Amino acid sequence: MEIRKVGVIGCGLMGSGIAQTCAQAGYETIVREVAQDFLDKGMARIQGAWDMMLQKGKINEEQARDYKNNLRGTLDTKDLADCDLVIEAVIENMEEKLRLFPALDNALKPETLILSNTSSLNITQMGAVTKRADKVCGLHFFNPAPVMKLVEIVRTISTSDETIETVRAFAKSLGKTPVVAKDTAGFIVNFLLIPYLLAAVRMYENGLASKEDIDAAMKLGCGYPMGPLTLLDYVGLDTTLWAAEALYEEFKEPLYAPSPLLRRMVNSGMLGRKSGRGFYEY
Ligand code: 3HC
Repeated sequence: MEIRKVGVIGCGLMGSGIAQTCAQAGYETIVREVAQDFLDKGMARIQGAWDMMLQKGKINEEQARDYKNNLRGTLDTKDLADCDLVIEAVIENMEEKLRLFPALDNALKPETLILSNTSSLNITQMGAVTKRADKVCGLHFFNPAPVMKLVEIVRTISTSDETIETVRAFAKSLGKTPVVAKDTAGFIVNFLLIPYLLAAVRMYENGLASKEDIDAAMKLGCGYPMGPLTLLDYVGLDTTLWAAEALYEEFKEPLYAPSPLLRRMVNSGMLGRKSGRGFYEY
């Protein structure tokens, strides 16, 4: 199946990064939000990234213009009806996804593939509330989506081979390296990353080292681009909490249990970079 037009649902941190990536790869891209101010904010984030790339000489004026021409925003799901592939990147809340998937199923042409960017929720269940479970799978991007080279393709028990192969070719056309994982909470990356991040929070919470030293240790001792507490702020403490809860719900293992501090920071609106405060201030 040939992919020409791509829809993205949600223009938050991940949705805008995914829409940016698709537009840069030459796809006609349309991104849907639920309110004009969310859409304006997301589109401004994308334009800001292109301005920065232009300023750094990574792209020329013509490319910047082409990227912009490839991208359109909308508040109406019907505008996505003729998309060949739609990627959902809304809030990590199962009830929200289970409302969205049947609505997409009704609005999109029957051949459209519906992909979820969820990091840990049950995609099989999302497919099951549509009449096209064979055309539903996960396509999980990493933050910042335009930069990180990996995507996880998540196969449910109903996803067809044809869907997986189309999505694999699509991921490569975005310049990404795809890996394929079964639909279990956390897939590959978060199954390994979340316990590490949670352990760093516990270490800090228990006063075993300062946050700066925990970050410096992992950055300089292991060659990671960011220390774990900086990465938590970057990804979002709320996003990490939801992922940990989904993993704990699935496996019931203590290493996935969110620590009291993480939960309380989220309760207090300390979500990391996006709220101006997390383990550090921004
Ligand atoms: N669009 C285009 N380019 C962008 C961009 C964007 N939105 N954001 C950053 N960049 C580019 C910058 O222009 C820069 O390019 P250059 O090197 O050619 O000048 C390059 O990316 C690096 O950015 P910076 O110079 O600003 O900063 P760093 O060198 O410190 O790199 C980083 C930033 C890429 C974020 C790096 O610190 C990193 O890799 N951190 C780890 C990120 C990570 O682990 N992400 C995965 C999180 S887990 C996840 O997302 C899963 C979820 O389910 C929880």
